[in-house]
Amino acid sequence: MKLHQVSSLVVIAMLALAGCGQPPDATFSSNREKLAPLLPDARKMVEKALEENFGTPNNLVAWEKFKIDYGAADPTADDDHKHHRNPGWRLVDGRNLYMQHCVHCHGTAGDGNGPTAKHLNPRPRDYRQGVFKFKSTLGGFKPARGDLIHILEQGIPGTYMPSFVLLGPEKLGLLVDYVRWLSIRGNFEIRLAEELAGLGATESDVTQEVQNDESKKLQRSDAIKAAISAASGEVAQLIEREANDLAENWEAGDLPENAIVPKVKRHAPTRESIEKGRLLFLSQYPDPKDPDPKKKTECAECHGRAGRGDGPNTEKFWEIPKSNPKRSYETAGLHDIWGHEQKPRDLTRGVYRGGRRPIDIFRRIHQGIPGTQMAGFGAALTEEEIWDVVNFVLSVPFEGKHSAYPTEVEEQKQAEKKDVAAAQE
Ligand code: HEC
Ligand code: HEC
Repeated sequence: MKLHQVSSLVVIAMLALAGCGQPPDATFSSNREKLAPLLPDARKMVEKALEENFGTPNNLVAWEKFKIDYGAADPTADDDHKHHRNPGWRLVDGRNLYMQHCVHCHGTAGDGNGPTAKHLNPRPRDYRQGVFKFKSTLGGFKPARGDLIHILEQGIPGTYMPSFVLLGPEKLGLLVDYVRWLSIRGNFEIRLAEELAGLGATESDVTQEVQNDESKKLQRSDAIKAAISAASGEVAQLIEREANDLAENWEAGDLPENAIVPKVKRHAPTRESIEKGRLLFLSQYPDPKDPDPKKKTECAECHGRAGRGDGPNTEKFWEIPKSNPKRSYETAGLHDIWGHEQKPRDLTRGVYRGGRRPIDIFRRIHQGIPGTQMAGFGAALTEEEIWDVVNFVLSVPFEGKHSAYPTEVEEQKQAEKKDVAAAQE
């Protein structure tokens, strides 16, 4: 990983936005939840690091540490593209497009909190957590750049996330890079705040320290000073470490070895395969003579035996992860990591948010859907078995009707046709 000093920051002056409309917000709203527990001076450290390394919406800073094509200066650019003569023009163009097409849902800082957001379910993605749902990469890896392009081309069917395919590939590229940049910025803010909290630079740490002081001589102001001095001794190193880590995470998402690529090709959705998939879906063992407890998929616990998204897990009260003291959500049913209620997909409808190609469904089942309670089954099921489940899932909307997939009868017809053709040769 190449390290870049802070001095190598490319500061991009805001260009005259004539005709583009002034962005509505001159600040990136800060992550109140993460910053509130910090001591005021520690909070300022986070705010300063953000402003220095990422700038403001009207005055962006491109941090070279991240492998994002910010747009190299092109001194030969014609008058129509004057701003290409400055470095960082791609980031500025991405910002302008984002402000035009995305901000009202996803918010200026990418916190998923634009003015329209509160009326939507599911809510627009909060990029700051760095968690994306519909991607081709393994487990904890970031989405590949191509995954985000794919989302912008397709939209997310069944949600308010529209398709932007009409903008064309160049603009989609600009938007995706701006989204990746916003995600890095927001994630950097969270991580730095958490690190400083870990060093004891919070109001509650100071209160505790004063209370625990047996000599009863420790003044609150001295405890604060000590905590801030410890934090400021470490902050430069923390900034460096977190930024390097984020840069590596995003680069890893683009490496081919981190993509989910099945080694086994999909087999035909024969009645036999669909039936095997159904048994796996119902957590029954396809081979009763060889029961393997790992194959307990519990799909039906969430999706319901008929796949309508109404399994018993939708009636339970779930505990809020990491809540301290432990609490449950106020409403029954599943929730995502953003704290919003969420239904398992109704599979009878045949609407798939992450795409309807068999490989899309394969990836969802293999790795689950990050940020949701749908876990991955790549370790429990073989690739053949996942394909059986894919075949079953894709057959659910056609149950009881004429199947879109070859049944035994149709297979026989095909075979007969082949025989006839062979006989005529
Ligand atoms: C009308 C509201 C709306 C607009 C406008 C909108 N989005 Fe979204 N977007 C959503 C919603 C809702 C989701 C979450 C869907 C879900 O969780 O299934 C989402 C999710 C996403 C995701 C996450 C995909 C994943 O795999 O997790 C990305 C990336 C994204 N939007 C980018 C954009 C960009 C870029 C624009 C502008 C070009 C944009 N969105 C405009 C509503 C919107
Ligand atoms: C603990 C609950 C849970 C279990 C177990 C579970 N799912 Fe899901 N599943 C969900 C939720 C919640 C969603 C919707 C997530 C979202 O898009 O936000 C979902 C979505 C899906 C989707 C839709 C994907 C898309 O692109 O729209 C499919 C297909 C699916 N699940 C299949 C399965 C299969 C097959 C199994 C078992 C191998 C399974 N699920 C197990 C909760 C679960």
